[in-house]
Amino acid sequence: MGRFIIEGGRSLSGSVRVGGSKNAALPVIFATLSTRGVSKISGLSEIGDVRVALRLIEEQGAVVERRGDITLINTEALEYKTPSPALVSLLRASTYLIGSTLARFGRAEIGAYGGCSFSHRPIDLHILAAERLGARLSGCELTAPGLFGCDLSFPKRSVGATVNFLIMAASAEGESTLRGCATEGHIDTLIEYLRSCGAEIEREGDTVRVRGAQLGGGCVSIPGDPIEAGTYISASLATRGRVRVEGVSELELMPLLELLAGAGATVDTNDGITVTGELNRPIEVVATAHPGFPTDLQPLTAPLMARFFGGSIEDRVWRDRYGYLRELARLGVCYRISDRGAEIYPSELSSGSALATDLRGGAACIIASLAARGECEVLSAHTVERGYERLCEKISSIGGKIIYSEL
Ligand code: EPZ
Repeated sequence: MGRFIIEGGRSLSGSVRVGGSKNAALPVIFATLSTRGVSKISGLSEIGDVRVALRLIEEQGAVVERRGDITLINTEALEYKTPSPALVSLLRASTYLIGSTLARFGRAEIGAYGGCSFSHRPIDLHILAAERLGARLSGCELTAPGLFGCDLSFPKRSVGATVNFLIMAASAEGESTLRGCATEGHIDTLIEYLRSCGAEIEREGDTVRVRGAQLGGGCVSIPGDPIEAGTYISASLATRGRVRVEGVSELELMPLLELLAGAGATVDTNDGITVTGELNRPIEVVATAHPGFPTDLQPLTAPLMARFFGGSIEDRVWRDRYGYLRELARLGVCYRISDRGAEIYPSELSSGSALATDLRGGAACIIASLAARGECEVLSAHTVERGYERLCEKISSIGGKIIYSEL
């Protein structure tokens, strides 16, 4: 479990470099199972979810070799094994075993997928994609003597179901078209990897066309994590600091940067991303599928609303992704849940003890603790370390006072 102990009230300043995007790395790691050869992935960050994902593919026989920033994954000799429930229950991305083991072995078992439990997280679209590509569901087992190209339209945007569709279609015989695919940057990273393995893939807006192939090893570089970047941007602003965030494209952060600039902050993207100043009015966040405001950034705006002039959050992706506010309230945040979402009021951030109920909720508690007067603790540190590499080291390097304690 472990906890972070944070001495708040210090302005953060300096530079911090983000690691490789968690949500771009995980699809690629699982997709390697559908290829025969050695894949070279650069930029995998040292986070809990990447470690678990690598152990899940090693269970299937993949050989993983870390050489500094490069990770080599040999998937020549694989043998299907039931994925261990203990590992599957640790992350949502283990759903990508559906597409990758169907593509490789013609079979997949539906598991008790884990990850952030801030909402009901169905997999009906994942199953729909598998069945349309030729798989048959019986009980908790999907089998497919072969995968064959299809035309499919998703009734709603789903990152995970798009990932599984792409992994299966890239190995399927013939051509596939998916309409209504997710368009986040991490989908393009997966497309780039699958292309390097031999698949022909073109995405135009929310339509993607795939011609499958016998996939060999490929290579890809994982881009910087925009959500990690947004976390440091919010922490810098909340502590009235000046932190330059490096290693990430501002493209995926534009909804956040525009929101903060519109509320009085100064945004400089000339050399890295530096957001300074103060917010001078309430901020309203409406989280929607890409290219809208990313749902994973909405918890990170709550401490800013409390710190400055309040605001509101409506999450249209995960309708009830507000549980983390109960924990922020232990650090002084005043809020109300309405039928549309959450209202957060200007608050006196104060010492307290909060629990990281999920990854981004835990990050929000850390931001609030850094801005609070006095000492705070954030429990269940491992939940945050699933998606944030070397957190104490990075926060300390920009002037924050944070330690990790086992007890
Ligand atoms: C991915 O989750 C991310 N996780 C989440 O980030 C992120 O919040 C989410 O996409 C939305 O951007 C990873 O990439 C590992 P979805 P995913 O399928 O794929 C509904 C983080 O903090 N849906 O895009 O599980 C679903 O209920 C995590 O890094 C169905 O109805 O999300 C939701 O309302 C938290 N049926 C919406 O679609 C399905 O079969 C979007 O879900 C699948 C999804």
